[in-house]
Amino acid sequence: MKTVLINKATKSSETLKTIYGRRSVRKYKDIPVNNEVIDQVLDAGRMAPSAINRQPWKFYVLTKKETIQSLSKEIGKIAGKEFLKIGPKQILKAVGHLLHYPHDLRFFKGEYFIFHGAPVVIFITGPRDNEWAPLDIGMCSQNIMLAAKSLGLDSCPVGMGKYAEQTKNYSQLHIPSTEQIYLSIVLGYGDEKPEMPKRTRDNIVYIDRMESW
Ligand SMILES: Cc1cc2nc3c(=O)[nH]c(=O)nc-3n(C[C@H](O)[C@H](O)[C@H](O)COP(=O)(O)O)c2cc1C
Repeated sequence: MKTVLINKATKSSETLKTIYGRRSVRKYKDIPVNNEVIDQVLDAGRMAPSAINRQPWKFYVLTKKETIQSLSKEIGKIAGKEFLKIGPKQILKAVGHLLHYPHDLRFFKGEYFIFHGAPVVIFITGPRDNEWAPLDIGMCSQNIMLAAKSLGLDSCPVGMGKYAEQTKNYSQLHIPSTEQIYLSIVLGYGDEKPEMPKRTRDNIVYIDRMESW
């Protein structure tokens, strides 16, 4: 049976190269991102598929350092408390991750804790009462991160951004109460090149795979 090698596939298509090359980057250069580039990236997000084409996403974009840092600090306080709620198994897993990637420890302090010092933070919200919104916004988010990568930017999805809702800064975002934050994404010019965290193939189950032709 023929197999398509991953490195062969990555060489064969720009899209695959972008998919394989994207990493969650947690250190950024102090360089702003041009508004047109941000618009292009958001436009790619808007092209994502969505259930019944509802396009449930809305984007709230922060680009001022002071706003981002102050929100990061406030979310950091909440995140610490939430972390302790995740239970011993998950805490052990997180500690295991940090032992494996000790450089991530540097983020457990100050204003870079949550948004990694990136110059752009995008909060993606959707209606609270749309059961497909989490999936739609996941797809939209991946489009955003791949578009960013293809334009020479790096990114990191930041789930902890949702704790913004519990901070005193939340009103600054002007997010209506009918919406909730599903994810935040940071963008910028990366200042590190992380290795790809391990991926497994054990999660593929071919029920009745055809012979390759
Ligand atoms: C829904 C979601 C939430 C995440 N939240 C965070 C986060 O709060 N902070 C962070 O640094 N990385 C976060 N990540 C990034 C993951 O840690 C990362 O995607 C994973 O380790 C795989 O690494 P890679 O993106 O470089 O392939 C999140 C990823 C996803 C998909």
